[in-house]
Amino acid sequence: MENTAPRKKIIFSGIQPTGTFTLGNYLGAVKNWVSMQEEYHCCYSVVDMHAITVRQDPKALRENAISAYALLLACGLDPEKSVLFLQSHVPAHAQLAWVLNCYTQFGELSRMTQFKDKSQRHPDNVNAGLFTYPTLMAADILLYQADLVPVGIDQKQHLELTRDIAQRFNGIHGQTFTLPEPYIPKTSAKIMSLQDPTKKMSKSDENPKGFISILDSPESILKKFRSAVTDSEAEVVYREGKDGINNLISIYSAVTGKSYEEIEKEFAGKGYGDFKTAVGEAVAEALRPIRERHAQFMKDRAYLESCWKQGAEKASGIAARTLAKVYKKIGFPAL
Ligand code: TRP
Repeated sequence: MENTAPRKKIIFSGIQPTGTFTLGNYLGAVKNWVSMQEEYHCCYSVVDMHAITVRQDPKALRENAISAYALLLACGLDPEKSVLFLQSHVPAHAQLAWVLNCYTQFGELSRMTQFKDKSQRHPDNVNAGLFTYPTLMAADILLYQADLVPVGIDQKQHLELTRDIAQRFNGIHGQTFTLPEPYIPKTSAKIMSLQDPTKKMSKSDENPKGFISILDSPESILKKFRSAVTDSEAEVVYREGKDGINNLISIYSAVTGKSYEEIEKEFAGKGYGDFKTAVGEAVAEALRPIRERHAQFMKDRAYLESCWKQGAEKASGIAARTLAKVYKKIGFPAL
């Protein structure tokens, strides 16, 4: 019988293994990745090759990459349903990145705001990899012929460049790459720093009270929420100008599934102290199973290895097909 069901769309996304994930990474990204597994063909990669554009201690990088992979599993990504792999395990990423470098202009890469930021922040190590980072990211996405790429706003410019490169290549050599679209999930929560709620929650915040790591202990989570910056009113309502409270409301809503209205009702007449404690407790409870599963996976290296091996095999199979097509089109003689 002919299969008339529309083809499932392909999703690709990557996460850098630098330190542990924050609550922001979880609520803003990985939690959505989990729910997308049903509807799409998903490929998720721990992008360790991107991580070395900034100097890394080898031991820490290895541990962080393994821990990040375990965390994807702990958050509920399923290695049977999705392709879960480490970028450095699939050589086609480096191979396609080289080709795409030759189809990307110096001027285009110079305009990337992330490059400008990072080269200012690390003036002693403005390496060529930092500059060509977006072409490696383009290779990640284009190898899998991804239709959709869930990314935060900070990565949109890279995704637009990916489309430009793909379009240019297709224009020269004929249809080769699917043009990826950004995918901004409807329910994606943007989580801000607990100490400066006008800034995005970030693991590179100098003030550790500003961010919650997914693996923080319940005590530390509670403490950080109790010292969250709010305002001098005493009303738990979502309103412009109340950045701290708005952030806490959206976190509470994301972990409990309650609407803003329900939350405002729940805390009507109560002080910020009660509210902050409630948010802290809800977050600690939501992260508990993830922390526990992560600890189990980290103790079972054989299982982790079997998962990423399987992931690398599946990813390599898909990537090899695209790379072969590209090599043929650009005129490399077949082996
Ligand atoms: N550059 C992304 C970030 O820093 C990570 C990343 C690498 C990525 N390759 C990707 C994201 C491909 C989406 C698709 O967050």
